[in-house]
Amino acid sequence: MVTYPDLIPGPIVRITPFELHVEDSNYWDEFYSRSSRYDKYEWMAGRFGANTMTFTTASSELHALRRAPPNSMFSKRSIAMFEPTIQDKVEIMCKGIASSVRSPDGVLVLSDAFSAYVGDVITDYCFGFSYNHLESPGFRENFHAAFVTISGFEHLALHFPMMHPIMNGLPNSVVEAMNPDLHMILKVQKDLRVQIANIMNKESKVEPKHPTIFYELLKSNLPPQEKSINRLGDEAQMFIGAGLETTSWALTATSFQLLSNPEALAKLRAELEEAMPNPSKILDSRSLEKLPYLTACIQKAHAFHMEYPLEIRGSLQKNRCGTLLQLEEEQGHALASSNLAYAELYLALATVFRRFQFELYDTDVSDIELAHDFFLPTPKLDSKGVRVKVKSVASG
Ligand code: HEM
Repeated sequence: MVTYPDLIPGPIVRITPFELHVEDSNYWDEFYSRSSRYDKYEWMAGRFGANTMTFTTASSELHALRRAPPNSMFSKRSIAMFEPTIQDKVEIMCKGIASSVRSPDGVLVLSDAFSAYVGDVITDYCFGFSYNHLESPGFRENFHAAFVTISGFEHLALHFPMMHPIMNGLPNSVVEAMNPDLHMILKVQKDLRVQIANIMNKESKVEPKHPTIFYELLKSNLPPQEKSINRLGDEAQMFIGAGLETTSWALTATSFQLLSNPEALAKLRAELEEAMPNPSKILDSRSLEKLPYLTACIQKAHAFHMEYPLEIRGSLQKNRCGTLLQLEEEQGHALASSNLAYAELYLALATVFRRFQFELYDTDVSDIELAHDFFLPTPKLDSKGVRVKVKSVASG
């Protein structure tokens, strides 16, 4: 990968008249300061085709108003109440992984499994239902391609703000012919609005199994204009987009690191076997957090790839998940979504690596290394994902 120091001396580079990239992690404390509040640029708000989502809200005052109601949904207590649902999804994922052995070539796209898992978790937490991507053969149905496409489209949409309204105005068949993945996100945008309308209609009659973000938002004291279907549709796109690629990528990159480092993998497996002698009895996330090697893997293992500079006035996507999640916790200006992310990471990694032995299949570091800045760090475009074959399954 070419880094700034190869091209330009010094860690700060002006990439547009309004944007700096800072490749110096010491600057994080300055950038993510508790004491300073700043507005984002209004003209950047619509780049994901959803210009009323909290994340791109320009005014810091309006951002704070929008951010407050969902905050309690990400507390440790709320996530603990949701944990049984996450555990159920992990079990469904494991069934799908085990069945890959029976597929004709025995190849499993592990990155698709993680996208399906994280997508089903976040939609369930948003609405109390999921698209059941985990049940799809080979986990082929998942949001990954759609969200990578919308992120890639983001650069164009930033400078040509009419792009999204134009695409939205075109007949479905035309968008589908032009770009099937973009078509998928437009379909998802519409479907999310239908889900929200359904919740609005049934709000007082049907109680979901666990608290959900959108039931809480609708019950909250947000002013009525903030609860319109379109505004909440934008918010749903944000929650799914923000919760999806970050966490599924962390799982993918961590797994790749482990599978290409037999010594590290052996240490992790030894720790998991000792802590969970019966592979069908997986500890809860609070107990898993006490396992030092698993914790170190989650904090560090995926720090080696996808190096990405800090982008001022945009956001930051760097695959230092542990560090970034600590940022979210410590700085207090982002959502406390780290509690959900950690629960997903601990439960999935502990279960998958306790139960399955894999070997990488036709996958190398270029499948996880940053090749494109599509807002989301993206590897080479012809990557087929992180692919594995299941070597053995532990029985309980
Ligand atoms: C490994 C996992 C994750 C990483 C590394 C990560 C990282 C980040 C970072 C760096 C930001 C930008 C903060 C800023 O610029 O202000 C952010 C924002 C955000 N994240 Fe995460 N995140 C992760 C998981 C999640 C999950 C599971 C959710 C759940 C929905 C989530 C929801 C959000 C939301 C809604 C925002 C925008 C908050 C705001 O504007 O106030 N994230 N995340």
